[in-house]
Amino acid sequence: MTKSKGKHFIKTFGCQMNVYDSERMGEALAEAGYVSTDTPETADLVILNTCHIREKAAEKVYSELGRLKQIKIAREELGQGTTIAVAGCVAQAEGREILSRAPVVDLVVGPQSYHRLGDLITRTGSERGGIIDIDFPEDDKFKHLPVRTAGARAPSAFLTVQEGCDKFCTFCVVPYTRGVEYSRPVDEIVEEALRLVKAGVSEITLLGQNVNAYHGDDASGAPRSLAELLRALAEIPELQRLRYTTSHPRDMSDDLIALHGDEEKLMPYLHLPFQAGSDRILAAMNRKHTRAEYQQLVQRIRGARPDIALSTDIIVGFPGETDEEFARTMEVVKEVEFAQAYSFKYSPRPGTPASAMDDQVPEEVKSSRLQQLQAVLKTQQEAFNQSCVGRKFSVLMERPGRRAGQLVGRSPYLQAVHADGDQSLIGRMIEVEIISAGPNSLEADIVETANSAVIAAE
Ligand code: 5AD
Ligand code: SF4
Repeated sequence: MTKSKGKHFIKTFGCQMNVYDSERMGEALAEAGYVSTDTPETADLVILNTCHIREKAAEKVYSELGRLKQIKIAREELGQGTTIAVAGCVAQAEGREILSRAPVVDLVVGPQSYHRLGDLITRTGSERGGIIDIDFPEDDKFKHLPVRTAGARAPSAFLTVQEGCDKFCTFCVVPYTRGVEYSRPVDEIVEEALRLVKAGVSEITLLGQNVNAYHGDDASGAPRSLAELLRALAEIPELQRLRYTTSHPRDMSDDLIALHGDEEKLMPYLHLPFQAGSDRILAAMNRKHTRAEYQQLVQRIRGARPDIALSTDIIVGFPGETDEEFARTMEVVKEVEFAQAYSFKYSPRPGTPASAMDDQVPEEVKSSRLQQLQAVLKTQQEAFNQSCVGRKFSVLMERPGRRAGQLVGRSPYLQAVHADGDQSLIGRMIEVEIISAGPNSLEADIVETANSAVIAAE
């Protein structure tokens, strides 16, 4: 057994890929002799796993570092040391600048170096000044991370299958922070999925910045598509549900669309960003698709799986966007009808082509467009949730709810579903009937379990 090195606390910002990375960092730290703790006040090592996608996300890191500085000082007075590390995309993008803006930081580590975390932390103890590791190594970090531990897990897990992006949308920092596209080999992914399943996982969401551009090698070295990877994973008997995110419209291949109609384990939910409705703006964004192409794609996907719930990302106020052009975005939203959506004001990111464009849109205009857009999106989400009332779903129960006796799970369409039931149902697929819908979740009655005696009495 490794001797305990102390306690770690990881705070995660940003997307699901960071959630996955934080989990893997936690596992690497466990192997290096750390145990986790729930508060930074009790931690010998604090890691902020950061996001750089929009300015607000990046700024949050610095305010968090301000708070951590106070905690570090308070702990010092008690004779306790605190190592502070900044990981993730802010680390990658800002590197040394973090150390000059926040000298409280001991270590800056980019997303490609997490397998070296244990060693890097040890070095912070002996070297003066902060340590920086933001290289893009040739080596596959996944191979060097410890295998997924078989300890108890939530029933739904993320699994990163692809990282980086070669699309270079002009507004986006991802190609700079996460580097070029890389797909993990099929066998490595299947093996990780088997370990997750063994630990009690029955739903896996495959992650990638451009997940449907996946083209990892199989055992013979031949590239396989995301559809082929999903098919291979669907063969794992105990794995009941599969999802994937985030997709680019250009990479929605015919075999992937067809799979939505053929493969029962593939859930009827798809996150497919369209960003803007005007063809001129789409071209300026370098999205390489038109509004009509997006709409035709939606039709084809709905042809394969009529009940699919569509989700999207939308940016308002991209440089040069006129009221007319924004109206095109609203039209697409009204035509497609999304079950869910994320919408953002355009935020200039250092080093991206769009940040250097002349005609930046004033903040008030962005705010007013976002308000209009979000009002429509909210109505659509509510309408979709309402349309589920009276239907019967299979829900994967994930955790206890806030109220005693309540459980929370996910519908096939990724909505949160609350139902009263015994805690022993957590981790199981349960038949429910939806009895009411709110803007962000559904209420349900359990209608059937393998052992109906376990339903909690009212
Ligand atoms: N400003 C606003 N939103 C952005 N996104 C990415 N970059 C920016 C930016 N500079 C949004 C896109 C993307 C989602 C993850 O974040 O909609 O799909
Ligand atoms: Fe960013 Fe575009 Fe790549 Fe998505 S496809 S990560 S928005 S550059």
